[in-house]
Amino acid sequence: MNDEKMTPFLKWPGGKRWIVEKLIKNIPSFEGKYIEPFLGSGALFFALKPDGAVLSDINEDLMEVYFAMRDYPNELREKMLYHQKNHCKEYYYKVRATKPRTEINRAARFLYLNRTCFNGMYRVNSKGEFNVPKGSKDDCVYDIDKFERYAELLQKTQIMTEDFAKAISLAGSGDVVFADPPYAMINNSQFLKYNEQLFNWDDQERLLRELKNASQRGANILVTNVYCEEIKKMYLEAGFWVSEESRICSIAGKSEKRGAIKELLISSHKIIDLEST
Ligand SMILES: C[S@@+](CC[C@H](N)C(=O)[O-])C[C@H]1O[C@@H](n2cnc3c(N)ncnc32)[C@H](O)[C@@H]1O
Repeated sequence: MNDEKMTPFLKWPGGKRWIVEKLIKNIPSFEGKYIEPFLGSGALFFALKPDGAVLSDINEDLMEVYFAMRDYPNELREKMLYHQKNHCKEYYYKVRATKPRTEINRAARFLYLNRTCFNGMYRVNSKGEFNVPKGSKDDCVYDIDKFERYAELLQKTQIMTEDFAKAISLAGSGDVVFADPPYAMINNSQFLKYNEQLFNWDDQERLLRELKNASQRGANILVTNVYCEEIKKMYLEAGFWVSEESRICSIAGKSEKRGAIKELLISSHKIIDLEST
């Protein structure tokens, strides 16, 4: 790892940039692989820049951007410059309606829409089509000079488009798993929907089982989830450490509507309280 500061190239719902310092303090030093099975924008991965990693997410459109950034950073840069030159309301909706046939064009479309859509949201309709309206940000090429660096870092990783169980099954002694699943909702009927599929209560229980097995194989585990009594109870009963965090956030993108959200930080080792360090 070096001192160069890297941040994600995507915006992602539930992205962990806001708590990344605390996560870094709570990641144990590891000799083996860094494994992130719910990658999203990979806020912790880019902050750590580990030498060997397994990165995975079930969202195919999302993962295609990582493959393209790893394999074709220069072509991606050129495509983003083209999008920037043409960007306007009409162009945004025209691009949103397209279904490019090549991987590089699909990745550039995804990145362009991600950077210029409303609030960096990700939402698809029942046919899996991205349907977020245009947002107020007009710049989609602010970090193109770093694409080579992103590529170098990603070339040292194993990237997969898989359910979380696959990536976690690769964890063994000396490895670390950072799991940031879609949040469990207090009201069980409202699970977060990132793809066409829901992440339901069975998935939350299945995740705990996979993490417990990985921990028994000698991997260290760090998990985040929304504050929820049932989640807290099941991890405590499974022998994990649990700490509560709260943060102020805007609701539905309206800065005048603010509320406190409580989250859980869960770990296979004792959690360090940031304020006391
Ligand atoms: C809270 S987000 C992760 C955010 C990420 N830590 C960041 O900093 O941007 C949760 C992610 O889990 C992914 N996901 C949902 N169901 C999954 C599954 N069964 N297996 C793997 N990934 C899944 C979603 O596509 C989404 O990207």
